[in-house]
Amino acid sequence: MSNYHIKNFPEYFHIYRNSVRNPELFWEEIAEEHFLWREKWNKVVSWDFSKPEIKWYEGAKLNITENCIDRHLYTNGDKTAIIFEPNNPDEGALHISYKELHERVNKMANVLKSYGIKKGDRVCIYLPMIPELAVSLLACARIGAIHSVVFAGFSSTALSTRINDSDCKMVLTSDGSYRGTKSIELKSIVDEALENCPCVETVLVVERTNTPITLKSGRDFLIAPLLDAASNDCEPEIMDAEDPLFILYTSGSTGKPKGMVHTTAGYMVYTAYTFKNVFQYIKGDVYWCTADIGWITGHSYIVYGPLANGATTVLFEGVPNYPNYGRFWEIVEKHKVNQFYTAPTAIRALAKEGVEFVDHYDLSSIKILGTVGEPINEEAWHWYDDNIGKKKAPIVDTWWQTETGGVMITPIPFSTPTKPTYATLPFLGIQPVLMDDAGNEITGNQVDGKLCIKYPWPSIARTIWGDHQRFKETYFSTFKNMYFTGDGALRDEVGYYRITGRVDDVIIVSGHNLGTAPIEDAINEHPAVSESAIVGFPHDIKGNALYGYVTLKETGESRDHDNLRKEINQIITEQIGPIAKLDKIQFTDALPKTRSGKIMRRILRKIASNDMSNLGDTSTLLNPEVVQDIIDNVL
Ligand code: PRX
Repeated sequence: MSNYHIKNFPEYFHIYRNSVRNPELFWEEIAEEHFLWREKWNKVVSWDFSKPEIKWYEGAKLNITENCIDRHLYTNGDKTAIIFEPNNPDEGALHISYKELHERVNKMANVLKSYGIKKGDRVCIYLPMIPELAVSLLACARIGAIHSVVFAGFSSTALSTRINDSDCKMVLTSDGSYRGTKSIELKSIVDEALENCPCVETVLVVERTNTPITLKSGRDFLIAPLLDAASNDCEPEIMDAEDPLFILYTSGSTGKPKGMVHTTAGYMVYTAYTFKNVFQYIKGDVYWCTADIGWITGHSYIVYGPLANGATTVLFEGVPNYPNYGRFWEIVEKHKVNQFYTAPTAIRALAKEGVEFVDHYDLSSIKILGTVGEPINEEAWHWYDDNIGKKKAPIVDTWWQTETGGVMITPIPFSTPTKPTYATLPFLGIQPVLMDDAGNEITGNQVDGKLCIKYPWPSIARTIWGDHQRFKETYFSTFKNMYFTGDGALRDEVGYYRITGRVDDVIIVSGHNLGTAPIEDAINEHPAVSESAIVGFPHDIKGNALYGYVTLKETGESRDHDNLRKEINQIITEQIGPIAKLDKIQFTDALPKTRSGKIMRRILRKIASNDMSNLGDTSTLLNPEVVQDIIDNVL
């Protein structure tokens, strides 16, 4: 029996038991047998959640790109590593072999080096879903630079905050990006951001849309001629196991975004191992994850996990509804996709358009379907199962987080019986627990509580860039000796987990994590606004949408509320990005507060969800009278 590739349910249980009884031995074997190391480790794991300090494979030396590219060259050099499917289907797909990927990454790495980038430097990547995006990540990893990818839908303000937080020396971007019928001028967003980023010395620009751009002399350079002139040979930098590989920002419930730091060896081992099993990838399969590389799903399961397994991974530039709502299925048919991984919000949006867009295409290549990013509702689950998988392809509902690096709770396809809306069982080596508010572990089944993990796994984030204290407070202080996920979950009668949602002030909208605090900060910048509170409410397609309660400095009917709503959403778009726009904005004379001045979001959440039952005891509020007024004017 191979621990690396689980093939049936008894095997899963057997290996799972071993993985938690003797984690060191388990993770040592996985690492030893399936990766290329320049030097072996002295210790598999050392950890102390109270500090917190977590180290995996300490003493080992490696380069992740040797594992993701070089080692496949001898046996699989001509195999397609990446299928690039452009926004416009008429442009035609591009197949990049492992050999070509090797050349492209080396050339890019040499260009970065020639602009002074060296081991440990931070490089911000603000690119659309084009091959250069994947190549940039790998080029940084090749030379030991730490990449910080910022999703190319973020605004200039959000971009500059992230660049400054990690002191990036360089930005890689493009002139523009295509999104269906639209194009977005990325370079001008970068120009605006860099007015506030003195740390950036160089900007390298990929030409994609050929929109006119300005190049600031001495700072900005087109990358194409540099790549043409660069050597395609670049020796990999030999990294320590615990050297940072990348920073990726995620929203917190308060304040500025958290730059989660992932390190090299553990991240590689865990993403590769989970990819192999969660998608049961076998040689010759074509795998497609529709996420953007700007999110952790793209890092782990478009780039690193698949490539470490020598897989063929599809990289799609466009959107699900261009040229029409059949685009995903057209791509599945065209490339004979075997594993398809997407988010519930996309499933709901496509389901709404009807099955005629699906029926047009041959989806018989599909073996496994995946979902990630938010709880999947029963209706969407069945639509996916009936119409896309034709009841033959198991659905892997994978629960995990930016912080966890890889999938944590998931069925193993063809092994674990699936159950709609349940992420089911922990992956190998993962030890989930449910905790009550008093800090006790809830044992037994048919219970619910706060989801924690009580033992480290190789790809757990190691810190928040520049703020270890915040890392400790956010994840390791709520429950002693536990990693706290911020999610609630229930465990059913057979021990399956169902994730019920966030228990903090993070709201997941269309699969994107949004903290309420930065949105409220943005709204409060409007000169007419005195105070605001954001909550989520159920939405058919987005899962949750945002509802804002806003109090104005001057009340009265004289204000043009519709115009104010537009202005508020405009500020949010500028400060964060269009993904954080509010669906509903209710103006109110005051917000319900506790006697200590804290906004009672619980009440606001219920009102926004039209759930007026059981608002709880409002009499202890500082201003109980505002509750009725808010209910009377709910949108
Ligand atoms: O609330 C959980 C939800 O998404 C959060 C993590 O978001 P992010 O860091 O952006 O990573 C998303 C992609 C890995 C979690 O705390 N979430 C993620 N997957 C699921 C989920 N909720 C329910 N079911 C899932 N399968």
